[in-house]
Amino acid sequence: MPPDPEDVVPDEQHPQRRAGTRPSAVVSSVRTHADEEARIIGRQLDVLDLGGGTGGVAVPLAEEGHRVTVVDPSPDALAALARRAREAGVHDNLTSIQGDGDSLASVLAEHRFDLVCCHGVLEFVDDPAATLRAISEALRPGGTLSLLVAGRLAVVFAKAIAGEFGQARAALTDADGRWGRTDPLPRRFDLDLVEELLTGAGLTVAQVRATNILGHLVPASLVDSDADRAALAELDELLVAAPGREFLRTLGNGLHLVARRD
Ligand SMILES: C[S@@+](CC[C@H](N)C(=O)[O-])C[C@H]1O[C@@H](n2cnc3c(N)ncnc32)[C@H](O)[C@@H]1O
Repeated sequence: MPPDPEDVVPDEQHPQRRAGTRPSAVVSSVRTHADEEARIIGRQLDVLDLGGGTGGVAVPLAEEGHRVTVVDPSPDALAALARRAREAGVHDNLTSIQGDGDSLASVLAEHRFDLVCCHGVLEFVDDPAATLRAISEALRPGGTLSLLVAGRLAVVFAKAIAGEFGQARAALTDADGRWGRTDPLPRRFDLDLVEELLTGAGLTVAQVRATNILGHLVPASLVDSDADRAALAELDELLVAAPGREFLRTLGNGLHLVARRD
């Protein structure tokens, strides 16, 4: 049985689960980016949300008038997406296709997009490099990819702090960054590897953000107000803002990269 998406999306998109996560910061940054691009090109965007699941990203983008195609292998997720789209009154702006990142080229045929979102998905595909190449092919020149992946080092720190030293060591040394056989995630990423994969797919990295560097490590019981969450999110930003400390981004529980096809 596939793992529950709630267990595997970097916690950034599930603000209620962890301390220190600013609500849907990734989703709002993607929405802002899409709206800015739309202003520049003078029309709403064609967006592909690969592994878009139940529409956490697709529905807010469709609400802004963008035309969103969700490709996801899960019929349950697509049924939930359809319900959510109807409730939000955006079903005309949403197309859903059952398919996966490993056969994207055949699923999309000649369709090209201004923006591709791939959030919490590269962990599951058979061959991340091949999927990124297919995404790159699916982008129009000048189009952008928003990629969110789970960071390896975040789980190493979290496991060590929780006293799970064997699991911390496994996550650090395992080729796929897994902490054990029951780890729900098939794969986690180091930031430099993701950058390499993007470059190898013909994409230019324009922005790198770490989501949830500190908040991921703080017990949820210690963070019980929006003010606490905002303070932790601000700490995350301050942490990486100073010159020489950018490397701390690699500790993010979520690694969010925006890359452009030239
Ligand atoms: C962790 S959820 C992320 C959902 C959504 N992108 C979000 O950010 O909320 C992972 C999603 O990837 C989908 N998925 C799993 N394997 C996939 C594959 N090989 N290609 C594309 N999507 C896949 C799952 O069905 C699920 O909807």
